[in-house]
Amino acid sequence: MSLTRLPGMIDAHTHLRDPGATQKEDFYTGTCAALAGGVTMILDMPNNPIPTISFRALKNKQKIASEKAVCDYGLIFGASQEDNTEEFKKIIPKVAALKVYMDQTTGTLLVEKLGLLEKIFRMWRSEKPIMVHAEDATLAKAISLSAFYKKHVHFCHVSLADEVELIKRAKEQKIKISAEATPHHLFLTENDRKRLGPFGIMKPPLRSVSDVQALWHGLIDGTIDMVATDHAPHTMSEKKSNKPPFGVTGLETALPLLLTVYKQKKLTLDQVIKLYHHNPRKIFNLPTQKNTYIMVDLDNKYELKNKDLKTKCGWSPFAGWQLYGKVHEVVLRGKTVYKNGKILAKKGYGKNIIS
Ligand code: DOR
Ligand code: ZN
Ligand code: ZN
Repeated sequence: MSLTRLPGMIDAHTHLRDPGATQKEDFYTGTCAALAGGVTMILDMPNNPIPTISFRALKNKQKIASEKAVCDYGLIFGASQEDNTEEFKKIIPKVAALKVYMDQTTGTLLVEKLGLLEKIFRMWRSEKPIMVHAEDATLAKAISLSAFYKKHVHFCHVSLADEVELIKRAKEQKIKISAEATPHHLFLTENDRKRLGPFGIMKPPLRSVSDVQALWHGLIDGTIDMVATDHAPHTMSEKKSNKPPFGVTGLETALPLLLTVYKQKKLTLDQVIKLYHHNPRKIFNLPTQKNTYIMVDLDNKYELKNKDLKTKCGWSPFAGWQLYGKVHEVVLRGKTVYKNGKILAKKGYGKNIIS
């Protein structure tokens, strides 16, 4: 078997659920899933039960991550409806980005009032991106805020053809924005919803075939800059309840899905690396990881099975898929941290790449 060497992937949108919802995932299991998927650096979202919206909560998460992570990581601070802009000055040097939830999703973070949104944009005195969850018409609001306040806005999980169009127009106007697409919005459509049941429920939801086509178009013409998973684990029993929470896992499937598309000759290897390594690094101004690479098998297919997953919740919407690009080895900062299904790094080997 011949293996191909690639750089470690960078996933700029993950929810590792630690602290507060560690029945779903924690900093160890989440970063193990990252390594198994060829990801050597993740950025972690702030919508925990006690959200990362204060200096204190950030410190607490830094400590937890430093004790448990096996891949490198950066933390993302959350904007709060209770106006936490006072905290910005102190936390800016310690985080990778700010996240603003402009639409309702998992957790309690939601900022809708225009006055507060303006204040957030004004007070974010940093080149670091403001990541937004902004669906459909809300996306237009975020583009205006970016233009007026001259702040870099990064659009999470773009999913609609109309959103791709608006982003394209805004980029033509030289507004400082970037955008990501998730594997679930690229590889699944609303037609998969019935088959997947609650395991196909997420925010934004799965979209129509023509939306998915537009998203691929945007990815190939550069309107969409990068891929990020929005890895959002929930336990099987939570998902099977009568009120299933939003979200699917993604860390262990994103790269194999992209490499399967490469095998189908719809993306080049350079494009895959650009979407899931170079562009996230550029957009978030992340450091290079020295002596870091992964070895993947581009020759043989394998079946993705829930039982092989490292994520604590133990399921993927892509279970049963035949994929190329299985990750055989991960070397992080000179040390083999993952090999043939086994995690070899000690808890705490992962480093905070910001501070
Ligand atoms: O499906 C989602 N799950 N979308 C989000 O915006 C949040 C995420 C979560 O944290 O569960
Ligand atoms: Zn979101
Ligand atoms: Zn998310």
